[in-house]
Amino acid sequence: MINDQHHSDVLVIGSGASGLSLALQLARHAHVTVISKADLKEGATFYAQGGVSAVLHARDSVESHIDDTIGTGCGLCDPDVVRFVVENGRKSIDWLIDLGVNFTRFPNSGGQEYHLHQEGGHSHRRVLHAADSTGKAIENTLESCTRAHENIELFEFHTSLDLIIRDGRCVGAYVYDQERDRVRVFNSRFTVLATGGAGKVYLYTSNPDICTGDGIAMAWRAGCRIANMEFVQFHPTCLYHQEAKSFLISEALRGEGANLLLPDGSRFMKKFDSRGELAPRDVVARAIDHEMKRLGSECVYLDISHKGKDFIIDHFPTIYARCIQYGFDITREAVPVVPAAHYTCGGVIIDKDGRTDVDSLYAIGEVSCSGLHGANRMASNSLLECVVFAHSTCKDIHRQLDRKAHPAMLPEWDESQVTDSDEEVVVSHNWDEVRRFMWDYVGIVRTDKRLQRAKHRIKLLQDEIHEYYGNFRINNDLIELRNLSLAADLIIESALRRKESRGLHYSLDYPVSKSSLPGRNTVLTPG
Ligand code: FAD
Ligand code: SIN
Repeated sequence: MINDQHHSDVLVIGSGASGLSLALQLARHAHVTVISKADLKEGATFYAQGGVSAVLHARDSVESHIDDTIGTGCGLCDPDVVRFVVENGRKSIDWLIDLGVNFTRFPNSGGQEYHLHQEGGHSHRRVLHAADSTGKAIENTLESCTRAHENIELFEFHTSLDLIIRDGRCVGAYVYDQERDRVRVFNSRFTVLATGGAGKVYLYTSNPDICTGDGIAMAWRAGCRIANMEFVQFHPTCLYHQEAKSFLISEALRGEGANLLLPDGSRFMKKFDSRGELAPRDVVARAIDHEMKRLGSECVYLDISHKGKDFIIDHFPTIYARCIQYGFDITREAVPVVPAAHYTCGGVIIDKDGRTDVDSLYAIGEVSCSGLHGANRMASNSLLECVVFAHSTCKDIHRQLDRKAHPAMLPEWDESQVTDSDEEVVVSHNWDEVRRFMWDYVGIVRTDKRLQRAKHRIKLLQDEIHEYYGNFRINNDLIELRNLSLAADLIIESALRRKESRGLHYSLDYPVSKSSLPGRNTVLTPG
């Protein structure tokens, strides 16, 4: 077998806000390789709408941002981490602006003052945005800077399938080159998981296809602890339309005064929370779910038409255009919306430097569980977390660069025992089945009985997938299915262990919410 291992100082797996921010900062000190399993742009970052939270308004304060984050996190945020992220918010925003991200400014401020959105859980306007496609503005800027950097090597359509661990240290990854249909060793002194979340575990999700929980699964197999996987955030308002693939209607609409309506046109949110449409997401998603089930309705409606055409098109051009494409004019009518899986609050346990339990392995962004979000992430805190942790992780790796030697040559991927599959249908069937029962049994409202049912199913499927993986040559779908089913298993197991309702985890068997009391994290340990 030819030996063509790829060597670098740092291997970054993932090219969203977290991966590219880190790569750009590290490239001043080290040779960095970035791999992504689709084209560079594809990931949750590109689709982010509302914006990035940070304390910029004169009447806002760091303390207020901290209090809101901790309040939304329902007793499970790590206060130290929340302070760390919020205090570093301004610096991270300045870094993005210096790179060239063009955030929206007030037209009448002489271009000096940034326009800020308000979203659920925030007690101030503090969400910096680029109209309603903030993620696209950030990702495009990061991408062009990354592509121009001579110390960064990029590999698109390369899927990492497992980390390589030698004597307790992570020394790289096995990576599947989709175009050449072969697995190659990527050998590195440091490895960073920046692979995003696991929204595709659910049948209905706002997430793009790449969000299959790969990083969480790889870290688990490598020996890392995983925490708080039961806290899956469902975004309250995705467009309800067969072809829209859960297109998100940003919370920023509600921040600008949009109302949630029942099919008869009446408002209902104040029945559930005095903050109404701007209550945190767990509250709004559960209220919608409750009303839909009560009325047997397929959706509820979101109405911003009272704000006037110019205002709406100016603030939400992307959402306006996409809705028109599906036959809805948000300047004149309410649009049908439903909740969908949106954000993975749990993930790989890290410290403030992005370090995991395994030597030389880091994790940043949505794949991680840093302690910032607790039992429920506050809107627009995620992009902030990506950039803040990219900075702290860069510093830590930089400090260690001289202390870690390049790993020796590593064994090649062994394909001698496998053959080509003659039953691809098994993979597509299992993909579908996992997503469907996760939606039905492990959704917004849970019971022990439904969770047990899901547990039973996932075990059967995992055995089948394991056998398939051991016998047949791999491909991208199989790699993802293996990871997706493991992420589903971790979600179910964590949900079963939490005998209370808190934040995003709501159980009919333990309906009394303990959200205002201090709680404990659900920590799963491999082996
Ligand atoms: P991502 O941006 O998801 O990138 C993951 C990367 O990992 C991709 O490059 C992918 O190809 C790569 N990858 C994954 N697995 C592998 C593998 N096995 N091998 C190689 N590469 C791999 N948050 C906010 O703060 N504000 C918002 O306004 C906002 N709006 C959102 C709107 C939508 C529709 C969605 C889906 C999310 C939104 N979020 C928002 C959440 C936020 O966008 C994400 O949490 C954040 O962008 C995650 O960034 P990331 O770098 O961790 O991962
Ligand atoms: C939105 O724009 O509603 C999404 C914001 C987020 O997920 O933080």
